[in-house]
Amino acid sequence: MRRILVIHGPNLNRLGARDPAIYGTLTLQDIQERLAEKAQELGVELLFFQSNSEGAIIDFLQEHAPHAQGIVINPGALTHYGLSLRDALADTRLPIVEVHLSNIHAREEWRSKSVIAPLAVGQICGLGWRGYLYALDFLAVHIREEEV
Ligand code: DQA
Repeated sequence: MRRILVIHGPNLNRLGARDPAIYGTLTLQDIQERLAEKAQELGVELLFFQSNSEGAIIDFLQEHAPHAQGIVINPGALTHYGLSLRDALADTRLPIVEVHLSNIHAREEWRSKSVIAPLAVGQICGLGWRGYLYALDFLAVHIREEEV
């Protein structure tokens, strides 16, 4: 079965409690449950990972990307400056969809720059938790098409 890594960066373990007006009221667990349901429909396997540490995410990528076909990632604030994460993502050579709950282009100016975006097939932002589902939906089809 095709495997997709779903990675959440720093502070996303606080979803539900952290600034709900911006990030919504669902917890990370809630979002992952919805993703797991969707994955079942799509016939893909998900591997979830959250860390507040850039190095731990890089270790996870190095270990698991060789056995995966795609990546959904919300890098949190690492989006804006995480160059070692960017290098690790590039090294995977996997299709990546970058997700943000909030619209990073409508907030502080520093948030609108993503060092990850140039590597990604695309970026979804501002659509709240549903953005993760749309990203997964797209990747499942994209991976299948790339195999042909
Ligand atoms: C975020 C946006 C980032 O700017 C912020 O640092 C986050 C969450 C989002 O999902 O909207 O931690 O990635």
